[in-house]
Amino acid sequence: MEIKPAHRVSTIKPYFFADLAKTINKLKQSGVDVIRLDIGSPDLPPENFIIQALINAARQPDMHGYGQSGGSSSLKAAFARYYYNRFEIELDPEREVLGLIGSKEGVFNLSQVLINPSDLVLIPDPCYPVYAVGANVAQAETYSMPLLAENGFLPDFKAIPSDIAKRAKIMWLNYPNNPTGAIAPYSFFEKVVAFATKHQIVIAHDAPYVDVCFDNYKAPSILQVPGAKDIAVEFNSLSKIYNMAGWRVGAAVGNPDIIRLLKVYKSQLDSSHFKPIMCAAETALLGDQKWIVRRNEIYQQRRDIIVSTLSQLEFSFEIPKASLYVWARLPGSYQDSILFCDKLLRESGVSVTPGIVYGKSGKGYIRISLVTPGDRLKEAMQRMDDWMKGRN
Ligand SMILES: Cc1ncc(COP(=O)(O)O)c(C=O)c1O
Repeated sequence: MEIKPAHRVSTIKPYFFADLAKTINKLKQSGVDVIRLDIGSPDLPPENFIIQALINAARQPDMHGYGQSGGSSSLKAAFARYYYNRFEIELDPEREVLGLIGSKEGVFNLSQVLINPSDLVLIPDPCYPVYAVGANVAQAETYSMPLLAENGFLPDFKAIPSDIAKRAKIMWLNYPNNPTGAIAPYSFFEKVVAFATKHQIVIAHDAPYVDVCFDNYKAPSILQVPGAKDIAVEFNSLSKIYNMAGWRVGAAVGNPDIIRLLKVYKSQLDSSHFKPIMCAAETALLGDQKWIVRRNEIYQQRRDIIVSTLSQLEFSFEIPKASLYVWARLPGSYQDSILFCDKLLRESGVSVTPGIVYGKSGKGYIRISLVTPGDRLKEAMQRMDDWMKGRN
């Protein structure tokens, strides 16, 4: 029998990193020492007191049944407390917070609960690919907002035609940004809230890197802007903030109507987290945050290793103040980032991500991630330097 996919899913391609992992495994099997600077999965563990909380909770006999859908009340209260401690934002844990099994599911599901076929979704270009995939599965029309170096990788609202602004139902934003490493000042979020209120657009602000900041920078939350809760939902995640990507804990916070829709939808899809993971996540959110400062210093040192090599090799880039990535334009003699990354990987064993994976405006860029220890990173940068100067 021929299995025919639903139209809704027929355009979904395999996730770029799933395919890349296959190529890398083949190279490793043939003896290549591959250094992966492509993916954004933190290499460092969470602080010990968080792991200990998981172990302690797992030892309790009543911790092994199904958890509460959308997160336990105490997990939601912990997210609300974190938002208050970090941003002075007050959230009602039951109405304005929803626990997610990693923010990715909430990001994908938002389109499923808000979008009817041919509704319009505004998507930054380049961006985390799940915004567009979620919108496509919901059969939305999408409109790209180019993020350009000359605008600090912020979308230019004046460039959005008024008929598009009128029709748009969701606008995706993400600061600190993946893949560009750009940050958005509070004044930008004030403009966003004014624009979205005027045009009645839901703002989906995806903020998983909000505490991965360098040079004493502190990223704002869109919910700090008065009136933001009327139109905005923010996604947050423990994946990058607390080095807990594999634990799959995130949250959607903000507009209570959106939170309710996501919560009902989700209650039919999954059966919550493992309870000890929720206990440990609470400990991470409520515990001492000083280790994050030390962890960010490590990322900052790694960033500086990358940046010094890239400047010698004549890449163009901004030094990122946040996120896990350096986003760099290839020097003039290179045009095609897919070809560049593929050859770099095969000929030097260094894997970086071609910018085009994140959208048309990523053409000619590469993304280098900070989740590799300093000595390996230095080795990778040396190999890249040798390879680009034709020394291997
Ligand atoms: C911008 C952005 N949003 C969301 C996610 C998903 O994170 P999580 O692990 O919380 O699902 C990522 C992961 O890389 C990301 O870069």
